Amino acid sequence: MNETLQVILTRRSTRKFLNKPIPGEDLDNILKAALHAPSGMGRQTWQFTAVKNREKIRMLAAAIEKVLGREGYDMYQPEVLIIPSNDKESPYGKEDNACALENIFLAAHSLGIGSVWINQLQGICDNPEIREILTSFGVPENHVVYGMAALGYADDVKSEKERIGKVVIVE
Ligand SMILES: Cc1cc2nc3c(=O)[nH]c(=O)nc-3n(C[C@H](O)[C@H](O)[C@H](O)COP(=O)(O)O)c2cc1C
Repeated sequence: MNETLQVILTRRSTRKFLNKPIPGEDLDNILKAALHAPSGMGRQTWQFTAVKNREKIRMLAAAIEKVLGREGYDMYQPEVLIIPSNDKESPYGKEDNACALENIFLAAHSLGIGSVWINQLQGICDNPEIREILTSFGVPENHVVYGMAALGYADDVKSEKERIGKVVIVE
């Protein structure tokens, strides 16, 4: 099996992270992978905001905790949070950002870095408290966030996950 397939088949979500920095070069390459994802009509109306400051990540998690009423929500305390955002008017924003997120997860895994999709901003990024934090991070006001990537070195052990989706081959 080639290396690319090996990376795809062995990626798993990580929900417990070590307190260990991600090298700058690795983060740059993960962001480059995001920028190379496919996008509808090649429009690339996205932005990738990488938050490396754990206190700022904690601040966003605390706001989500409050807005969603999810006590103790901490986004798994990642080392880095990548916030893909996209123009609210883009008809393909959600799909584009999902493609970019998968590139982020696979690139991270290829570098030995764990990751997980964080969905909690979906539908609440225009809440004033959340928007104020996003704006302070430099996320454009006309952008929406669908999903985010929490990144860090894994501090958990994953068990095999059965893949139950059906495959049909038509000859
Ligand atoms: C649209 C979407 C939303 C997700 N949201 C979350 C989330 O908010 N928190 C979380 O821990 N995992 C989230 N996940 C990760 C899935 O739970 C995970 O990919 C799935 O259980 C399969 O496990 P694997 O990633 O280890 O293969 C999300 C995945 C997708 C595609």
